[in-house]
Order: sequence, then structure tokens, then C-alpha cells
Amino acid sequence: MNPDNIIPALSIRDLRAGYPGGGDIVRGVTLDQPPETILAVIGPNGSGKSSFVKTLAGLLRSREGSIEVTGEAVTSLSPAKRVMAGLAYVPQEENVFRNLTIRENLKLATEFLRGRSGVGPAQEAQVLSLFPEIGRRPKTLAGDLSGGQRQMLAFACALLSNPEVLLLDEPTAGLSPKFVSETMEAVARVREAGVAVLLVEQNVAAALRIADEVMVLVAGRKSLQARASDISNADLADLFFAKMQ
Ligand SMILES: Nc1ncnc2c1ncn2[C@@H]1O[C@H](COP(=O)(O)OP(=O)(O)OP(=O)(O)O)[C@@H](O)[C@H]1O
Ligand SMILES: [Mg+2]
Repeated sequence: MNPDNIIPALSIRDLRAGYPGGGDIVRGVTLDQPPETILAVIGPNGSGKSSFVKTLAGLLRSREGSIEVTGEAVTSLSPAKRVMAGLAYVPQEENVFRNLTIRENLKLATEFLRGRSGVGPAQEAQVLSLFPEIGRRPKTLAGDLSGGQRQMLAFACALLSNPEVLLLDEPTAGLSPKFVSETMEAVARVREAGVAVLLVEQNVAAALRIADEVMVLVAGRKSLQARASDISNADLADLFFAKMQ
């Protein structure tokens, strides 16, 4: 999966992080993700998945370890500088401005990206071609979109930075089954566009269908990493329950 001659899109070594005044929540995660792959990160509630991606995005400070994006160290960079280094992040909630239109959301997303290579009208057209429903309705308020369409808008906003790596935290949370599969198809299209996607997902079966690789996070540690095609749902259920008891 990751031959030595390919620089990983995302490379993480011994990452530790926690909230001020508390113990470590992310407890020594090491990981290499090749370009143009989907890595599904799954695990029980409270196992540290969101904390892990927040640490990658720079919103939670790492206490130890390193993070590289296509070979460039980003560990000590601010969240904004990480975006400029090719790392984009879509939070679990509140990831678009509901009282602004689609066009206004997209415009805001590019406001601070001057200097990042590949950002511009051609890139915007390519991103919108991945999400036709969003591209067709520039004047619609984000708050008037369905949950699934709002996720597409959030993906589109993040992709306008022309990232190497896209971090998605539970994009299907609260969506009906129809929108779950639409959202997963959109994530697969993002990979086809050349981006490495780190996908935190509760919907394990849906994630496994599109993922190349799966990492199971339990109590802030990587308890398993495997090719998605080598894992059955039954294996994962066993693993979850064994660790939760
Ligand atoms: N802002 C915060 N301050 C202090 N502790 C926090 C904060 N956010 C999360 N935690 C703690 O960190 C641990 C991991 O939470 P986190 O949200 O990362 O888990 P998760 O795997 O994303 O859970 P879920 O599946 O419910 O989204 C929990 O014990 C939680 O209470
Ligand atoms: Mg979470």
C-alpha cells in the first residue's frame, strides 16, 4: 500500500495530545497515509477520534510527536498555516455559515488562501464539478440546504484550499441513509480528485465500502490498522465490544 518511494500525504509519529489540565487523550498514534487514499478512523464514542483530528488540524496542541503533510513538518504551525501547507479540516458540527448563501460561504473559504498554489477560479470550477448540486444553486442559503447538501458545501469550502489531505469528522452524523450513501460517494470523488481523505466515521459499514485502509482508535491508541478489504464487519464488532467491556 505504501511503497518506500511514495512520500505519504500524511505522516504521524508518536502523537500525544490532551486538553489543558487533563491527561493525554491521544496516546501515541503513529500512522502513514499514502496520497489519494481514504483512511477510515473508527472507534467507540469518546475514544478520542475528534481530539485526534483536532490535533492534526492544530486546534488542540500536541504534547509530543510529529505531523508531516507531504514531507513538510506542520506540528508547530497554527491552524491557518496548516491549511496553507495542504491540510484541510471539516469539523463535525457548525461547518458552514447557515445565514450566508452557498456563494458567500465559498467566497469566505478562499479569503485567506492567497499564496497557496493551485487556488483560484479553475480550482473552484473543478471543486464545484464534484458537487453539482452545490454549484447549481449559488444563491441558496446554506441553512436551507438538506443535511447532506450542507456537508457537500462544507467539503467544497475545505477543498478550495487545494489540500493534499482532507480531514473529515463524522460527515454523516445525523443524516438519513440516503444521504449517508450520497455523502460517501462524494468522499470517494474527493479521493479520485487526488486528495488523501482521513475520514472519522461512526457508520462503519458505509466507511468500509469506500475506505482503502481502516484504523481503529480505542482510548486514544491505535488498536488496529488494516486494509479495508481484509476486514469484516464481524471482526470490527468483536474488536469494539472486547475493548469496551
Ligand atoms: N474540550 C474538551 N475539554 C476537555 N475534554 C474533552 C474536550 N473535548 C473532548 N474531551 C474529552 O476527550 C475524550 C475524547 O473525546 P472525543 O470527542 O475526542 O472522542 P470521539 O471519539 O470523537 O467521540 P464521539 O464518537 O462521541 O464523537 C472524552 O473523554 C472527552 O470527554
Ligand atoms: Mg467525535
